[in-house]
Amino acid sequence: MKICVLAGDGIGPEITKQAVRVLDALNLGIQFSEAQVGGAAYRAAGHPLPPATLNLAKNSDAILFGAVGDFSLDKLPRELRPEQAILGLRKELNLFANFRPAIVYPELVHASTLKADVVASLDILIVRELTGDIYFGKPRGIHTLPNGEREGFDTMRYSESEIRRVAHVAFQAARKRGKRLCSVDKANVLDTMQLWREVVVQVAVDYPDVELSHQYVDNAAMQLLKNPKQFDVIVTGNMFGDILSDEASMLTGSIGMLPSASLNEHNFGLYEPIHGSAPDIAGKGVANPLATILSAAMMLRYTFADVASADKIDDAVKRVLAQGYRTADIAEPGATLVGTAQMGDAVLAALA
Ligand code: IPM
Ligand code: MG
Repeated sequence: MKICVLAGDGIGPEITKQAVRVLDALNLGIQFSEAQVGGAAYRAAGHPLPPATLNLAKNSDAILFGAVGDFSLDKLPRELRPEQAILGLRKELNLFANFRPAIVYPELVHASTLKADVVASLDILIVRELTGDIYFGKPRGIHTLPNGEREGFDTMRYSESEIRRVAHVAFQAARKRGKRLCSVDKANVLDTMQLWREVVVQVAVDYPDVELSHQYVDNAAMQLLKNPKQFDVIVTGNMFGDILSDEASMLTGSIGMLPSASLNEHNFGLYEPIHGSAPDIAGKGVANPLATILSAAMMLRYTFADVASADKIDDAVKRVLAQGYRTADIAEPGATLVGTAQMGDAVLAALA
């Protein structure tokens, strides 16, 4: 197994370091290689996704990704901003299926801003399409109208095959869980989304054992707060998935706990915590490494089909939470407050 570690910016290096320690401890014979990405790569090589980094990623079996983002580079032209690194990797590696689980751990029920009974034992999975939609549609730009005023425009678009392949992934995921899939669109207003709904309905014919429902995205945003436990798996487009997955993460109260997987059709994947580079706490040794450690578990589960090792990591994380270890982002009175490396130590101890 060749894993490419792209630590990136801000807290990225600190958190990926702990996930690598955990993978190493399992003695799976993994080879790690590292490359720069995001703002760090821009500073070193003049581009957020240099060719050397992209090549290393392409020649690996999976990618462990930290975070990209650096406010001091926000004034650069768009194609040089740190965020372009992750968008470029998604597109170049065809990582169209993004799994974003939102799980409420019993020990962290009170970390949510919602009432405990609304979120207790919540376990939902958002499957976000990741390589299409308004994120990549052309034309896009800012031009000047005849009256001298500037106008900005982007293009929302999906082909049938792009919708179909992510729908299949979502139905298959639902089949392995609660067998309920909610497709989120805006078919009442947008033609792209009318097509989305038609194709999802066609794909459903192959999955008679999965119950399919549809919600408009505005209603889905409301239902996620009102009664999130009605959902099992949600499938949606790139932009709606971006927004709903941040909302869902806050149901759990702890964005520092949530991993993600971005997969192509061969289960090659990029694994990253869903939180960002958190420049305000970078370098202080206080960031929560658990989302990255759980992302490593997803890597073993999805790319390497090593369910036993993935379960070991997931169980070790549950154990350290039960033992009362907390980083600052999830700390409550009476907890044992630990830093990034100590949390890694605790997970290693629980593994052993
Ligand atoms: C995410 C992030 C990215 C996105 C940014 C960093 C480009 O918000 O992974 O959700 O918008 O997809
Ligand atoms: Mg986002």
